[in-house]
Amino acid sequence: MAFMTADWNGTESLPIEDFHHVEFYVGNAKQAAHFYRSAFGFEAFAYSGPETGRRDAVSYVLKQNHIFIVLTTALSSRHPVAEWQQKHGDGVKDIAFQVTDVRACFEKALKLGAKEAFAPRELKDEKGSVWIAGIQTYGDTIHTFVNRQNYKGCWLPGFREHKLPSLNRPSAGLKFIDHIVGNVELGKMDHWTEYYKNIFGFTHFIRFDETDISTKFSALKSNVVRNKNWHVKMPLNEPAKGLKKSQIEEFLDFYEGPGVQHIALATENIVETISSLRANGVEFLDAPDSYYEELSGRVGQIAEDVKQLKNLGILVDRDEEGYLLQLFTKPIEDRPTFFFEIIQRKGALGFGQGNFQALFESIEKEQAKRGNL
Ligand code: FE2
Repeated sequence: MAFMTADWNGTESLPIEDFHHVEFYVGNAKQAAHFYRSAFGFEAFAYSGPETGRRDAVSYVLKQNHIFIVLTTALSSRHPVAEWQQKHGDGVKDIAFQVTDVRACFEKALKLGAKEAFAPRELKDEKGSVWIAGIQTYGDTIHTFVNRQNYKGCWLPGFREHKLPSLNRPSAGLKFIDHIVGNVELGKMDHWTEYYKNIFGFTHFIRFDETDISTKFSALKSNVVRNKNWHVKMPLNEPAKGLKKSQIEEFLDFYEGPGVQHIALATENIVETISSLRANGVEFLDAPDSYYEELSGRVGQIAEDVKQLKNLGILVDRDEEGYLLQLFTKPIEDRPTFFFEIIQRKGALGFGQGNFQALFESIEKEQAKRGNL
């Protein structure tokens, strides 16, 4: 049964202020950094590796407006980063949160039942110090708590500035992380919902399952939790019985366990953003032609030109609060696992549930091509 409520009944027990950054473990961070720069419009920002005194791994920090992503690769097969990446493929290791007091958050989280990923530690250099600490979440994913507001360097101690020549492409206009979605095992969605409610003090504000017509096809159940100021929104999916094999099941098979399924990046002009991402070669899921014939009837009056949306393949959904425009990339690696969503909200608080049914054909077509349906 679906529900959605804007009401808050969380406790803000830690509290979490915002997403700080997302760290991916990848097979080849140098090449991945080029992909994120050339395809998604990120800029090189910071670097750590042998040249900065780190002998066993390399990290590139990329930036676009308020979005920071870190790409990390091990320099030997025995490194934990290499083992993680061998199992899951390239993927999200860490959803890092901005907090005021790292040590207090960590201690409180543990008291409330969280498992430690790494104990609080102070990173220091001549530009100051930063405390970080980490707790575990679903699968082999962690949350790092960080506060670098008093640090004078570019990123964290151990990193140096990293500037590369501009690639001379129009800006993709991606502004901030809107939400980050986790796929968990069958029967575990409620467990992880409780985890975010009990430990982080988040509120549970959307639920839908296989009884909702729009999800019968894409065969997923979803709960969404959020923090008080709405900056952190985290849908949690599990597979459901549908007409065909669940897309969540395909993810779990190929990722070899639970993990981050997609990150939604927000733009203030989705038409310009999608135009430039398409020009850069980013591939998106296609909506069937009939989608745009039915669009006005389904979502009513919108400010955008439907013809232009159709040309770019942009999807629209409406809820009680307004509407949103969105589009999903195809998986960005060979394993059918992680992908991005581009989203522009015009009042809507939802996640495009009304598009699931319209998209199911497209998702299934891609699954069938891979022989996974
Ligand atoms: Fe999403």
